[in-house]
Amino acid sequence: ASASAAALALAFTAGSAAASCEAGEMVIKLSHVTNTDKHPKGIAASLLQSRVNEEMNGKACMEVYPNSTLYNDDQVLEAMLQGDVQMAAPSLSKFEKFTKQFRIFDLPFMFKNMDSVDAFQNSEAGQAMKESMTRRGLLGLDFWHNGLKQFSANKPLLEPGDAAGLKFRVQPSDVLVAQMEALDASPQPMAFSEVYGALQTGVVDGQENTWSNIYGQKFFEVQDGITETNHGVLDYMLVTSVDWWDSLDADLRDQLETIVHEVTAERNAAIADVDAENRQAVLDAGGTIRELTAEQRQDWVDVMKPVWEQFEGDVGAENIQAAQDINA
Ligand code: LMR
Repeated sequence: ASASAAALALAFTAGSAAASCEAGEMVIKLSHVTNTDKHPKGIAASLLQSRVNEEMNGKACMEVYPNSTLYNDDQVLEAMLQGDVQMAAPSLSKFEKFTKQFRIFDLPFMFKNMDSVDAFQNSEAGQAMKESMTRRGLLGLDFWHNGLKQFSANKPLLEPGDAAGLKFRVQPSDVLVAQMEALDASPQPMAFSEVYGALQTGVVDGQENTWSNIYGQKFFEVQDGITETNHGVLDYMLVTSVDWWDSLDADLRDQLETIVHEVTAERNAAIADVDAENRQAVLDAGGTIRELTAEQRQDWVDVMKPVWEQFEGDVGAENIQAAQDINA
């Protein structure tokens, strides 16, 4: 890889696949769906790219493809199993075909804040989830943070009844479908890259996502406003294929794994700041943010939390209890 400062700076800011790989270098393609500027996943992927290309120069070379330019999340895991891409970081909602354990992260109001999410992911049970898909060919390398989700629609959402009858885009997750049904809303699973257009044309009325995705995809431009519900988590698993990972020389794999863990620790520790920056960016760009009173928020909890019962068998009552103990 070209490790000149200018090339690294370009790769970092543009998050581009610009690093030109040299003959003899092992190419590592990382495909993802978000923007790179200000976005927690975009920043983490770009940092991983620049560190691999600097520290493993001559041995390995990483190319990052952001913004769904290579694959969307419906395609990327299959592409990984085919060996067409070596790393990806889909949200935890996107692994339904591979494991049901991640459903705990989609359950509404399961985690109080990102510190709780972080503690749960770093517990023994959380870390074991990285290996929950190995039989199906995928290995989790690390959890990457994004943040808590907010609701938005083409009308103000203050009471849970305000969502009734509206169509909401959701990620393809049975838990999120059940969550919207609990609100008497109509869930519409859809790829991330299609959401802005669907909101703009009225194919859907609303959506749920994090501040960085609401800002990065400009959803606020085509919604009445964002309601600060913090009702669920959107985090990622940085994954690779078991076959590819096992095929690496041990020295090279160890070096890559160390860099991955260091990038994870650094970027996950910065999540509160990145999240706050994106929330502020929505306001600065003219978006409307509505806060709920404690009473209003409790009404949303009362309507949505019964969804937990439907999925207790998938996620394990002991994991729900562990999450609640961490919240306390
Ligand atoms: C979504 O589909 O809304 C998110 O998973 C996109 C992302 O990667 O943050």
